[in-house]
Amino acid sequence: MREKIQHTVIIGGSSGIGLATARKLLGPGMKVTITGRNPEKLKGAWHSLGGAVEKAAFDAAKSDEVRQFFDAIGPFDHLVLAASGGKGLGPFETLDLADIGGGFDEKVRPQLSCLQAALPTLSKSGSATFISAVSAQLSAPGVAGIAAINGMLLTVVPILAIELKPLRVNVVVPGVIDTPWWDFLPDEQRQAIFADYAGKTPVGRIGRAEDVASAIAFLVSNGFMTGQVLTCDGGLRFAA
Ligand SMILES: NC(=O)c1ccc[n+]([C@@H]2O[C@H](COP(=O)([O-])OP(=O)(O)OC[C@H]3O[C@@H](n4cnc5c(N)ncnc54)[C@H](OP(=O)(O)O)[C@@H]3O)[C@@H](O)[C@H]2O)c1
Repeated sequence: MREKIQHTVIIGGSSGIGLATARKLLGPGMKVTITGRNPEKLKGAWHSLGGAVEKAAFDAAKSDEVRQFFDAIGPFDHLVLAASGGKGLGPFETLDLADIGGGFDEKVRPQLSCLQAALPTLSKSGSATFISAVSAQLSAPGVAGIAAINGMLLTVVPILAIELKPLRVNVVVPGVIDTPWWDFLPDEQRQAIFADYAGKTPVGRIGRAEDVASAIAFLVSNGFMTGQVLTCDGGLRFAA
């Protein structure tokens, strides 16, 4: 008997890890929808995937847009939550504590709000995969704010895996990954940071979006994985 085609929705699929995940998951058995705020960027991503995915532009931080998207999309099987935020980096002594709330609004609330809005149409035999960040697991100076933000996702995942069962709920924890997330830094500074982290990372390099996409694809496809925190950081957590 032919297997049913599954459908994965990737929130934040127009760039970096989300886009690499779309590329990884796409195949004869999987339909993929990618989203992002910027329609031009989304169109570029769609082209780079040979037009083989569905796309929808909306802001996952705006609950009315989130509801509208999930009302329109119909039943689907897997949700990947890759929307990002960049707030909360820097020494604690001078950290603007408002950035912790800002980071929550940019990253945590959109990821939670998408899962909540998806529940009526997300298959109970499917999965939801959050993306946190290794800052939440490092005892490194300068990451208290961003760790507080990303740590919330690590906390809720095991709870949601029980509360929403049999839906599988997991979280991937990327290390330092070469994606457009880092574009806020001038090229030279970014390369210096990447080189520094490559030196600290046991595997001797920073990550590629494809590395994390493989970890996400594993959680999406393995029906026995739920409530798990899967760190994909080249071992940085143990070395930084
Ligand atoms: N790169 C790293 O080193 C690293 C490390 C640890 C964790 N992470 C996490 O990994 C996830 C993916 O990041 P990335 O590195 O792949 O960054 P990225 O290349 O900047 O991708 C972020 C994606 O999310 C979309 N997005 C952001 N805010 C959104 C919103 N409010 N609504 C809808 N879409 C939104 C972006 O498109 P638009 O801008 O067009 O909306 C883009 O498609 C993030 O949660 C990030 O915090 C990254």
